[in-house]
Amino acid sequence: MSEFDTLLVTGGAGFIGSNFVHVVAERTPARRVVVLDKLTYAGNAENLAGLDVELVRGDIADPEDVGRAFQATGTGGGGGAENIAVIHFAAETHVDRSIESALPFLHTNVVGTQVLLDAARERGVRRFVHISTDEVYGPIPDGVFTPEDDLLNPTNPYSASKAASEHLVHAATITHGIDAVITRCSNNYGPYQFPEKLIPLMIANASEDKPLPVYGDGLCERDWTHVRDHCDAVLAVLERGRAGATYNIPGNTHKTNLEVLHFLLDVLGKPRSLIHHVKDRPGHDRRYAPDGARIQSELGWTPSRTFDDAMEETVRWYQDNTDWLERVRSGEYRNYYERHYGERLKT
Ligand code: NAD
Ligand code: DAU
Repeated sequence: MSEFDTLLVTGGAGFIGSNFVHVVAERTPARRVVVLDKLTYAGNAENLAGLDVELVRGDIADPEDVGRAFQATGTGGGGGAENIAVIHFAAETHVDRSIESALPFLHTNVVGTQVLLDAARERGVRRFVHISTDEVYGPIPDGVFTPEDDLLNPTNPYSASKAASEHLVHAATITHGIDAVITRCSNNYGPYQFPEKLIPLMIANASEDKPLPVYGDGLCERDWTHVRDHCDAVLAVLERGRAGATYNIPGNTHKTNLEVLHFLLDVLGKPRSLIHHVKDRPGHDRRYAPDGARIQSELGWTPSRTFDDAMEETVRWYQDNTDWLERVRSGEYRNYYERHYGERLKT
């Protein structure tokens, strides 16, 4: 048995988690993978089709469900997990939904993280990789890049819940000696992203000649990372990251939302008149900009994809997978879309 030969991946049926399982299957096929996922509106078992993984449907905030997931890795209670790493992606992730209703974010992101930490400690897991976000730094002034030791200043319920979960992970490393590493990536794009997020939402709407609802002046800036670059960075952190450390994962591609929309419209051959400025998101952070010096110097990792090529490839993926898009947009999402954009798009 080698280190980390079994991975317990929480949230593995979501966007980044499922891409991570695909990357693991390609790079290290001998690894055993168990996914623990509640299959919320954002989770989709179909994202893992064709992969040799065991999917345990359950809630990370429920100790019994977490126990079932550990059993599926071959470990019961009281030890036996020394070759196992937990890669913790599961979360409520959409900022707009957290503004509408914060409690599910506390349940999953805060309580769920503590339940997992307790279970990992009880079983002696070898390493716990906690997937966090650059949103925990809050808005960053122009020209500034945030290193990992900056103060956390979350400004919306989602980012506050992610910052809280980071504190619990840090506390577990200090108090209980858990081997944990935290990652903070910037905005991801790529296949299997739920279409409430900017990129797939705008590709889907533009493809159907529907309006593109850009919040406020559209000049908020994000750093864009292709999801596969994020997954490569998480593998590097799993295998070579320093216990107790935090690593930013930047895409090193800074763009305003309008610049992103112009790019997508050009690739799709659609007019800019589809862009509609709508009421801004409350507490909308103007700019995020994580500094990548630590992960580059310690682990030799930098993103390998260029925005133009990887975004064009992403557009093609959504064009080639309209059935997938239709299926995930059915049901609850239609109500959400109407509730969230109905009024906004009338003004
Ligand atoms: P997602 O919303 O696409 O997927 C989340 C997954 O977690 C879903 O499969 C869902 O079913 C599952 N889940 C939710 N609540 C659960 C619970 N209580 N128990 C078990 N499973 C549950 O999210 P994503 O965009 O893939 O994000 C994954 C992680 O990466 C999150 O922790 C997020 O904070 C972080 N992150 C995301 C981005 C981004 O741009 N999307 C950037 C940086 C960090
Ligand atoms: O920075 C990392 C974070 O990126 C992750 O931690 C979050 O889980 C992920 O959802 C993402 O958060 P954002 O709020 O940045 O992503 P979103 O796709 O919701 O929005 C990106 C930008 O686009 C943001 O400035 C808001 C704007 N936007 C978004 C939507 C959905 C619009 O202008 N219109 C929209 O309809």
